[in-house]
Amino acid sequence: MVLELQNNCVIVFLGWLSKVGLKMMPRTSLFEHWQTFVPLICDRLERSNSPLAKVISGLLPDLAQRSLEWGDVSNLVPLSNSISAINDPHLRQAINAMAPSLVWIKRGFFTSGNTINRAYVELVGPDGMLKHGQFRCGLYWQLAQTYYPKHRHNANELYHIFSGNALWQTGDEDFILRESGSSFEHLNGIDHATQTLEHDMLAFWAWRGDLSFDSYTMDSIIAY
Ligand SMILES: [Fe+2]
Repeated sequence: MVLELQNNCVIVFLGWLSKVGLKMMPRTSLFEHWQTFVPLICDRLERSNSPLAKVISGLLPDLAQRSLEWGDVSNLVPLSNSISAINDPHLRQAINAMAPSLVWIKRGFFTSGNTINRAYVELVGPDGMLKHGQFRCGLYWQLAQTYYPKHRHNANELYHIFSGNALWQTGDEDFILRESGSSFEHLNGIDHATQTLEHDMLAFWAWRGDLSFDSYTMDSIIAY
């Protein structure tokens, strides 16, 4: 009888421990991966020639100590190819660990039929997983052989490609191939468009200046 009670207590305790552990450990781990991610992206932005990249790299470090509101919805964005193609193992591990708990936006033009063509996360910003009023930044993913039509907005925009590559157009200029590791800007109000080729593309993005989406307009989808 005593032995049976002890066993029951052990079972109840292990059940409680597993529930508490399952709920708490991932959140702790996610925060650590965020803390790893921030200096890695800052280092990449610092080494670029983009003035906006240097501004963002100056704003991010303080935020490494702040918590994000992690998502609870299953991530349906097919990221495995993009993540495995990241050349820095530390960055690869951090993004891979955070990816299932990121809040991916796939609304509107970002989803075509049952296939997710494009998606983004706002890590930091007015609508971000970490609330901030001075800038927006996050991750952007685009499927291979996908066109992001010409669009424009008042914010100055930064991209840094983590993996894959794409053809990028500014205004009516010719498309330029941007490779993994490159950082570049789109200034406020200037049209820009993106065409991926044979690889999916994963990038970091940031907005600075007028952060409102009110000025965002996009042309209808016309294949490049
Ligand atoms: Fe843009």
